[in-house]
Amino acid sequence: MYGFAMKVYGCQMNQYDASKIQTALTALGWHETDEETADAVIFVACSIRDKAEHKVWSELGRYAERWQAEGKPAVAVTSCIAQNVGTEMAGRFPWVRVVSGPRHIGDLPAALSDALDNGNRHTLLDDDPRAVRELDVPPSVRSFQWKASVTISHGCDNFCTYCIVPYVRGRFASRPAEEILAEVRSLVAGGAKEITLLGQNVDTWGLDCPGGMRFADLLELVAREPGVEWLRFMTSYPTDFTVDVVETMVRHSNICPSINLPIQAGSERVLRAMNRRYSLEEYADTMKLIRDGLPEVGLTSDLIVGFPGETEEEFQCSLAALERFRFDMVHTAAYSPRQGTPAAKMKNQIPAAVKERRLNEVNDLQTSIARQINQSLVGRTYKVLVDGPAPKGDYMEARTATDKVVLLKGAGASFGQFVTAKIDSAESWCLKGTVLR
Ligand code: SAH
Ligand code: SF4
Ligand code: F3S
Repeated sequence: MYGFAMKVYGCQMNQYDASKIQTALTALGWHETDEETADAVIFVACSIRDKAEHKVWSELGRYAERWQAEGKPAVAVTSCIAQNVGTEMAGRFPWVRVVSGPRHIGDLPAALSDALDNGNRHTLLDDDPRAVRELDVPPSVRSFQWKASVTISHGCDNFCTYCIVPYVRGRFASRPAEEILAEVRSLVAGGAKEITLLGQNVDTWGLDCPGGMRFADLLELVAREPGVEWLRFMTSYPTDFTVDVVETMVRHSNICPSINLPIQAGSERVLRAMNRRYSLEEYADTMKLIRDGLPEVGLTSDLIVGFPGETEEEFQCSLAALERFRFDMVHTAAYSPRQGTPAAKMKNQIPAAVKERRLNEVNDLQTSIARQINQSLVGRTYKVLVDGPAPKGDYMEARTATDKVVLLKGAGASFGQFVTAKIDSAESWCLKGTVLR
């Protein structure tokens, strides 16, 4: 049976899809191996910014030598990047044998088997943004057995003017509650303690289905499932977020007080040009209802600098927003034009050097805000879930319910366990602590 290697980039949706692909191929009797000896290499990759695509283009070039010598590996390019530029990739590199968009991974195992057995090439893309060929297996093979995600909806209908996701992931479609619950149960039975519900806009879950269920109802149902010790969700949309989500979080102690509420810009004009459907004050109202209900909440956000036409004053509004809302963490990015999106055609594209300078400025400010917040937590104790060894130093890496990274000394035996940790010191991106019990 074949050996395969996974190369996974992008957001948690890609991690989730990759995990399903691993599960399906393992069920066929295939085994995971390293890239150098694999019969098949599967890229589950991202198109959100130019840099993300660029990396994959350059990695694909590296298979030339082995392909010429051995006729291996057969490469599959899947997910958002495949929908966007997969055909070009297959045209350039003969070792790309399968191209599959994110809505077609259900057909991937058969296509890849055929590519390896018979040498055929497959392109699994289509023009219908509602078509979904799901891979109908739970994501059982995962990096951490105690953590699992469940996609609750496909696609996105928001069409923020900078974003490629609606074009590559297609139209928004909720997965039925029963399907989600069945997957949660199977993941819990397989050892998952922490479940994360994923959607590009979780707050509109259910609106496209009969029965009138809303996201808060789904959250309630999953929170009540036996064995779901921690429950998370992302991403929330400022003006679709409803107060009953906070109420449900307050009622269930296993729903982690952690919310990602992307702001994207601090200027009203830029927000409108981005087609974000909120004003800064509406954003502030949502923040207030969250903080009023959940005073200990961990709040993160996303912010883009250098959107076309962003003036220096408008950029200052983004800095002011960071000061005003004091997020625990912010995913910042320099605007990257994506072909086919409205913003890519806008005039007044901002020069790269200006975007970079603005990115450094927001990062410096946010780093100092995060350090202050984290330092105020020194001396506190938290229940944390231990993930594994930290990438650097002699530490174990764990997370609080508020999704803060905690580096722990001497918790060697506790992977996948909840422990109580006392926070001894803090940096901008993490807390450091000791295990109490
Ligand atoms: N659905 C989520 C996440 C989408 S993608 C949301 O609404 O926020 C994750 C992040 O990538 C976005 O929040 C945005 O900040 C960033 N992003 C998307 N398109 C981008 C682009 N063209 N250039 C730079 N950053 C982008
Ligand atoms: Fe992209 Fe906007 Fe949809 Fe998020 S909500 S995925 S930023 S279009
Ligand atoms: Fe995720 Fe990247 Fe696609 S962020 S949805 S993998 S374009």
